[in-house]
Amino acid sequence: MNNGFCGLKVTSFESRRSKEIANLISYHGGVPRVAPSMKEIPLDASPNLLKFAKDLLNLKIEILILMTGVGTRFLSKYVSEKFGHEEYKNALKKATIVARGPKPVSALRELKIKSDITIPEPNTWKDILNTIDKEISIKDKVVAVQEYGVSNKKFLYELRKRGAVVKPITIYRWGLPDDMKPLKDAIESISNFDEDLVLFTSSQQVVNLIEVAKKQRKKKALLNGFKRLLIGSIGPTTSETLKKFDISVDYEPDSPKMGNLIREIARASHSLLEKKRRAEGLGLNTLNWRKVDMKWNQGKKRLSSLGNNSQFMKACRLEKTDYTPIWIMRQAGRYMREYRDIRSKVSFLELCKTPELAAEVTLMAVDRLQVDSAIIFSDILLILEPLGLKVEFSKNDGPQIKKVLRSSKAVDSIREFDSEKLGFVYDSIKLVRNALNPDKALIGFAGAPFTVASYAIEGGGSKNYINTKGIMYRDPELWSTLMTKLTDSTIVHLNKQIEFGANAVQIFDSWVGCLSHDDYKKFVLPYMKKLVAGIKKNVPVIVFGTNTSSFLELIKETGCSVVGVDWRVDIYDAWKRVGFDTALQGNLDPVSLFSSRLYVKEKATEILKKVGGRRGHIFNLGHGVLPNTSVENVLALVDTVHEYSGRYK
Ligand code: CP3
Repeated sequence: MNNGFCGLKVTSFESRRSKEIANLISYHGGVPRVAPSMKEIPLDASPNLLKFAKDLLNLKIEILILMTGVGTRFLSKYVSEKFGHEEYKNALKKATIVARGPKPVSALRELKIKSDITIPEPNTWKDILNTIDKEISIKDKVVAVQEYGVSNKKFLYELRKRGAVVKPITIYRWGLPDDMKPLKDAIESISNFDEDLVLFTSSQQVVNLIEVAKKQRKKKALLNGFKRLLIGSIGPTTSETLKKFDISVDYEPDSPKMGNLIREIARASHSLLEKKRRAEGLGLNTLNWRKVDMKWNQGKKRLSSLGNNSQFMKACRLEKTDYTPIWIMRQAGRYMREYRDIRSKVSFLELCKTPELAAEVTLMAVDRLQVDSAIIFSDILLILEPLGLKVEFSKNDGPQIKKVLRSSKAVDSIREFDSEKLGFVYDSIKLVRNALNPDKALIGFAGAPFTVASYAIEGGGSKNYINTKGIMYRDPELWSTLMTKLTDSTIVHLNKQIEFGANAVQIFDSWVGCLSHDDYKKFVLPYMKKLVAGIKKNVPVIVFGTNTSSFLELIKETGCSVVGVDWRVDIYDAWKRVGFDTALQGNLDPVSLFSSRLYVKEKATEILKKVGGRRGHIFNLGHGVLPNTSVENVLALVDTVHEYSGRYK
């Protein structure tokens, strides 16, 4: 539950905006300590600056990248004073100006100059590169970069790699503050394990802090202190600097803004801190650790008992909960920066098939979102491989199956399901169940026979399912053979997941809504009944589908414990039809997350009001979270559900 910092001690090393950050920390319930770690010393005598000014006036700078508002203003003052204001403005107008975001843009506005290119949010250096790549060529161009604080070597390297002649202009040097006492006191306090969080809002703060600690012979003690507190970083450059010192970051928001860092780390602070301190107590080096290294299970409890009393499991069993549990379908995916970072290094299939990585991604989503369940990172189509079909995940076209199943010969050649070939899924599950807080549930999953069959028959996604329905109508026997094979394999696959630590399982029948009521009853329901009945007793089974409003009652007949619905139905009507003796999961439209935090709150509250605190509701989206969804809005959703329902119950 999000009660913010709730009394935790939070240290910040911010200098210029020290008052603002202290206020933000207090606002979110923390006890602030602000220890300014630097003083800005403008380098107006720098030869580098003078050279830049001359080059600019001689029109030798073709592209100028302005990184900060303060830097933009300083440049303008410096060059104007030396060479004249109009001269400076005229020279600027002739260069292509790239502004990193709203701050340099407003500094330029004071000069009545518009930037040629403005970098979109969250305006990280990677966004600058992406925008440049889309809009201009910098090959053989002279590019001046107004730099802020510590030079960003990677960014300069990437510009040079594109053929640019890069000229960094340093505007500031950062000195140590005049009053060193607050900084020394903070080092002392961290070393004595007396702080709960430290927040870094620039790279230079990291460099200066370590330098001062080193001078005082306290570097080791400081780093040791870091093992028992949470480390927040404002953005990628600061995180990279921390990593250089072998300090891993516990939280970094997507938008590098003070307000975001504090709001987001506050909501996750208690759960992340508890885990980190426990891990440190177990002897793990939490300065540089992976989430999968954690072991909650200290040999006393059986693996299967972990997570069983979570809010999610209680809701599945229609028991009373403290608040409405929430998780998000496809919660670990491309909308998350951390996921994209991992995917830039490994392919999707490699990620699924490497248990340490799959487990890390699974846990990462839970830590970031603070949802009540993890869902194992895998895919519904992986089951096709041991059956003898090759699945490919291409970048733009979605999954593709090369050899399609459209004849009895093809169906007959399906191999006997050998669960060992999916051993990586079970290994991932075991890692996650050990590393996941016991108050969270772990969900295993599989595709429903119909949806998996549709991929195997169509060879990929489909609009009208002509081949799938074709077989169903023309050759019911072939359909039955295929559905039986898929059903039997899925039973084994799901039971294995349970054996290795999944608390509940979800069956994704994403595309079954293309069928009529009668076709579902005749061609799908018998297999779904067999599937659900084949799953180990007392393990909740969620059956999810989209576009299923014409046969919701039949989904209940599968024998499942939870029915998952999309957003097209009214949740109260749907539940009444299913019957209140079965739990219900849903049903926010994933597209509603493409709005504002306020709207998300409104929509989530509407659903909770309709449910009215009834037992057995698991909050979720009506389908998977979409790429490009704002993580901030997802966090607002999770908090709204927890806070509002907590009050209601
Ligand atoms: O929920 C989670 O976080 C667990 C992971 C998960 C994935 N796929 C990872 C994935 C789950 C539960 C699934 C289920 C799945 N896979 C379904 C049913 C759910 C739904 O959304 O209807 C379906 C139909 C599939 C098949 C599939 N896999 C498709 C259509 C695609 C491509 C479309 C897309 O969203 O990219 C995949 C690939 C896939 N599965 C990705 C992820 C994170 C994206 C791969 C990448 O590019 O990194």
